Amino acid sequence: GPTGLGSEIVTLINRLQDVFAAVGSSASQIDLPQICVLGSQSSGKSSVLENIVGRDFLPRGQGIVTRRPLVLQLIHREATSTSKSPKDSTDPNSNPDEWGEFLHLPGQKFYDFNKIRDEIVRDTEAKTGKNAGISPLPINLRIFSPKVLTLTLVDLPGLTKVPVGDQPKDIEKQIREMLMKYISKPACIILAVSPANVDLANSDGLKMAREVDPEGTRTIGVLTKIDLMDAGTDVVDILAGRIIPLRLGYVPVVNRGQRDIDSSKAISQALEAEREFFENHPSYKGKAQYCGTPFLTRKLNMILMHHIRATLPDIKARITSQLQKYNAELMQLGGPHAEANSGNIVLTVITEFTNEFRTVIDGNTNDLSLNE
Ligand code: GDP
Ligand code: NA
Ligand code: MG
Repeated sequence: GPTGLGSEIVTLINRLQDVFAAVGSSASQIDLPQICVLGSQSSGKSSVLENIVGRDFLPRGQGIVTRRPLVLQLIHREATSTSKSPKDSTDPNSNPDEWGEFLHLPGQKFYDFNKIRDEIVRDTEAKTGKNAGISPLPINLRIFSPKVLTLTLVDLPGLTKVPVGDQPKDIEKQIREMLMKYISKPACIILAVSPANVDLANSDGLKMAREVDPEGTRTIGVLTKIDLMDAGTDVVDILAGRIIPLRLGYVPVVNRGQRDIDSSKAISQALEAEREFFENHPSYKGKAQYCGTPFLTRKLNMILMHHIRATLPDIKARITSQLQKYNAELMQLGGPHAEANSGNIVLTVITEFTNEFRTVIDGNTNDLSLNE
């Protein structure tokens, strides 16, 4: 579906990488930032990530469900298969061009995303027991799909204060240290998730995000559980930046509630329900295009495009210097050669892309904040 991280950016990057591959340039990797979720337990972090990916596969629920970091590498891969969906699948969306692979189970392809979720639960229990134990040992999962952008997302355990089950006394400190390792990286985009039915001033995620990103250049506020707010209350003041301003702003979302999880409500239905919620709510209907998962995804796309645009001059410089070196060698061998033109082609293409990115980005800049 059209819910995952933007088709526009996927197309642009893939075209760019095709050109690099065609001329065999090694100076051309575009490293995209990691995206991490940060927030208190059961604030809706796993639900938000899953909605961004657009497929059902993460364990979600009340209490401490995510007990180890899940490093999720999305890998773009062109569709090659002509056959139909694998037959043994319990996942109605399964198809032969989309599968997952775990680092701890090399060579085993999971086409059934329900089984991916089962394996995450199984391996979490194998390493941490069944009684709420946590571990900093990450689960590494790769998802190959023609619909995704090659990008890393990280689902993290939530911030908690009081130990339960088999948790150690210093659980708060241990989780903080685990989260710090991920969110302190300058290339990490933080989705600071706060439930809208709790006072924002108490948001542990926002507090911790501010410690590592005081300027707010890589923190997006995500407000979940808008549907659970008391009648007559809303998050309009937060969105307008009047409570705790964030440079990149906030996005309100409605994820599936526990009853939806218990009844296996499909992601497509959930996104439809989210859209209807914002379009019909008296506080949001005038600004519904700035609400919900699709807007969050667009915002992430824009941040990624800014990042790519910022890295293009460096790639261009590296190719230019390669080209100069190459030309100098050819001159020594007795004059320029036609093949040297391939480098020029790359430079021309990059320049065109830079212009294209500029159009796309500048055309959307106003969406980045929700100032009234
Ligand atoms: P995490 O612990 O932060 O990863 O949170 P989960 O994604 O596992 O969600 C925790 C619980 O909150 C689950 O029961 C979800 O169904 C529920 N939940 C999350 N987001 C929302 C939301 O926007 N609305 C409602 N009604 N429930 C939500
Ligand atoms: Na939870
Ligand atoms: Mg979780």
